[in-house]
Amino acid sequence: AWAAATGDRELLLAKPRSFCAGVERAIEIVERALDRFGAPVYVRRQIVHNLHVVRDLEQRGAVFVEEVDEIPEGSVVVLAAHGVAPTVRTQAAERRLQVVDATCPLVSKVHHEVRRYAARDSTVLLIGHPDHEEVIGTTGEAAGNVIVVPGPAEAETVQVPDPARVAYAMQTTLAVEEAAETAAVLRRRFPALAGPRKDDICYATSNRQAAVREIARQADLVIVIGSQNSSNSLRLAEVAEAEGTRAVLVDDAAEVRLDWLTGATRIGISAGASAPPTLVDNLIRNLSGLGSVTVTESGAVTEDVRFSLPKEVTQQ
Ligand code: F3S
Repeated sequence: AWAAATGDRELLLAKPRSFCAGVERAIEIVERALDRFGAPVYVRRQIVHNLHVVRDLEQRGAVFVEEVDEIPEGSVVVLAAHGVAPTVRTQAAERRLQVVDATCPLVSKVHHEVRRYAARDSTVLLIGHPDHEEVIGTTGEAAGNVIVVPGPAEAETVQVPDPARVAYAMQTTLAVEEAAETAAVLRRRFPALAGPRKDDICYATSNRQAAVREIARQADLVIVIGSQNSSNSLRLAEVAEAEGTRAVLVDDAAEVRLDWLTGATRIGISAGASAPPTLVDNLIRNLSGLGSVTVTESGAVTEDVRFSLPKEVTQQ
């Protein structure tokens, strides 16, 4: 396999790729909590959906749990970037946990919208993947008044108690085009539909999808670095495949199979918003071992979004 995979290659790096502002912030929150409070710092669920990030923080003293009832009373808990239902905050308060919230501000914004619609007695149609942690958290803001709508087909059939009182919101990491299609079906079926001024898909998701689409058009193979449970990473691979290019999602360079590389002379590379940039560097290094490579970066968007940190980890 090695012989067949050797050869000179062109690597097309999608820009932007890898960490978004919400993920950088969430990781920094755990690091600062460890510095400030000392280990163990508990984290409910994966802080971000990436194996490497979780392992790194584990080594530094973070303890990942599924639910807050696994955490000793009085401990420090960080809530993950995907956000939580309000019931989780209540449970944390009951256990007298010191909560540091790493929910991405762009997810909090969607929670806020859902609460606002529900307060007006609207049914909220939440476009998203029903099993995803973000969607579970957002739904919890108005349990009973939220209906999850995965895609255009479900949008065609969903029923609401009062079609005059209906609104929609979205998961932040959806495929941009499919989500727009779903919203269009809802708008057609419910003329009174209220919605966010700008769709809820975050800047990082839409920028990474646009960039990977560009490189997919020019590549024989697209490698996306990210974990299998990372919604935005999965969508990057799908967007590339929609351009007719084979795309694979891997956690790191070690998962790349040599037979994928056979015959692929132009390889597109991207990484999900939760995947560390060093993993991309490692992949490039490994591919360089198979022959000479030229690396070009393609994409026009420069991101400068930064979010402030919560006071629990900044105040003296
Ligand atoms: Fe936030 Fe979007 Fe990243 S919602 S965590 S900026 S992928």
